[in-house]
Amino acid sequence: MNQNWWEKAIVYQIYPKSFKDANNDGIGDLKGMIESLDYIKALGVDTLWLNPIFISPQVDNGYDISNYYAIDEIFGDLNDVEKLIEEAHKRELKIIFDLVLNHTSSEHPWFQEAIKGPQNIYRDYYLWADAKLDGSYPNNWESFFGGSVWEKDHKSEQYYFHLFDKKMPDLNWKNPEVKKSMVDIAKFWLAKGIDGFRLDAFIHMVKDDFSLDVQGVPDGEIALAEEYYANLPEVKRFLSEFISEIREINPNCFILGEAASATPSLADSYIREDLCSAVISFDHFEEKITSKDVKIPKGLESKTIDAKRMKENLIDWQETLAVEKYPTLYWNNHDMPRMVSRFGNDKEYRDKSAKALATGMYLLRGIPVILYGEELGMKNLEIDNIHTFQSPKAVDQHIQLLENGFSKEDSLAIIASANKEASRGVMQWDRTSHAGFSTQASWIGENVEETYNVEFEMKDENSVLHFYQRLLSLKKEDLFSFGAVTFLESDDNVLAYKRLFEEEEAIVICNLTENFAEIPDCTKELDQWHLVIDSGDSLDNEELAPYTYKVYRR
Ligand code: GLC
Repeated sequence: MNQNWWEKAIVYQIYPKSFKDANNDGIGDLKGMIESLDYIKALGVDTLWLNPIFISPQVDNGYDISNYYAIDEIFGDLNDVEKLIEEAHKRELKIIFDLVLNHTSSEHPWFQEAIKGPQNIYRDYYLWADAKLDGSYPNNWESFFGGSVWEKDHKSEQYYFHLFDKKMPDLNWKNPEVKKSMVDIAKFWLAKGIDGFRLDAFIHMVKDDFSLDVQGVPDGEIALAEEYYANLPEVKRFLSEFISEIREINPNCFILGEAASATPSLADSYIREDLCSAVISFDHFEEKITSKDVKIPKGLESKTIDAKRMKENLIDWQETLAVEKYPTLYWNNHDMPRMVSRFGNDKEYRDKSAKALATGMYLLRGIPVILYGEELGMKNLEIDNIHTFQSPKAVDQHIQLLENGFSKEDSLAIIASANKEASRGVMQWDRTSHAGFSTQASWIGENVEETYNVEFEMKDENSVLHFYQRLLSLKKEDLFSFGAVTFLESDDNVLAYKRLFEEEEAIVICNLTENFAEIPDCTKELDQWHLVIDSGDSLDNEELAPYTYKVYRR
């Protein structure tokens, strides 16, 4: 078999601001990561993905880049990053960087030039349009961060386009100079020895004709316009030109594309030699509302996993990408709440749900992407300041919840349960006052917990951490990396599948919920099999206990 190294990769996502603060300024840094490499290696992952570390005004925690060639001083400098790459490689850990190619910061010199006027040579690096004849926005498209995608440049009276924050103007990929500039950036970092990129929001690189309005939207209002700014056919053309040049330098580099709205078949079309190696989509997650409470604003209702639909999605991903392509397997990242709080149960079944969900997901065929701290069972960050939330709706929601009688703590917890900041709490290294992350209070806050931290869990054989180590060492075997997957008949809440590789076989059974479930029939024929992972629940009972997980082999 001639395999690409990343087909067997287990990715560990580090949110640099929150991982380890070596210089004790309350913000994580590169030196902190270097100090933590032995821990990471011992966990059993083999590839690091760092969220952006380049110079940035930090409007969107580094996704707004003003200099792609230098490290933001909050994280360190070029020497530190070179050292990190070297030290990671010494330990046989690969390392990939986040590359933001859809937009820059408004403080990037290109944009600063562009706003000098329509004649400036950098003007065409960005996207511009005039107001409609009646003076309103060029069209009714809404930005992902709220408000119109258009922001007026008062000097020229033209509008520039921003899909995210107004301080993050979108680049114009139809201008060949943009591609050239981005290729230079990618080459610069590949020459430093990194092993690939996570491509941020690449599906938005191309926009449709700005004269098109979303239909059915009342005059003066705006609406999300995915059909005009996501997954347009030309994305593949621009991306292919870009990736082909990168692959000339490093044919084996791993390109992990973020395609938030990609379905399995769309993802399939993005995975190609000259496009992405693998794709991260948000498509497989399914939740259902558990209780409607008129006092809770829309969008913040309490939810739980919709295991039936989630399972159907996972099956679709596995089947669509079954040959020579690999799905990514993940439960959480920096843009969504944490796995054990969102899909598991971080109160009664914290350890068990963390272990069951990890087992069910990561032993499927595909590339696991584990969010830092997930391996400890870290739950949503307890946030005590409403202004921590970036969502423009948060303040209004908080006011409404307080008016409806919720305490400040409850209101903030409800808002956190549906927001990305919940996942960005600092890594819990120990139980000292700043969780061993720093000697200072951190930029975002920290949960300090007696038993959920590296120090404690290293000593506890039954910890979530030890469990992840065992699970990931299984995952590295060819059976779990490359073996075929067959789904077995099971209750809606239960994930049951077989893996088969040459002479080896395994059966994985997981109850993904806190409900009792029917015991799958396959368990009746397991005499010749032995358990390699076991939640300890008996199968002699009438039903499968909540979050039961078992892995059998023969
Ligand atoms: C991606 C990132 C997200 C960021 C956005 C804009 O979706 O994951 O955190 O805000 O792109 O760069």
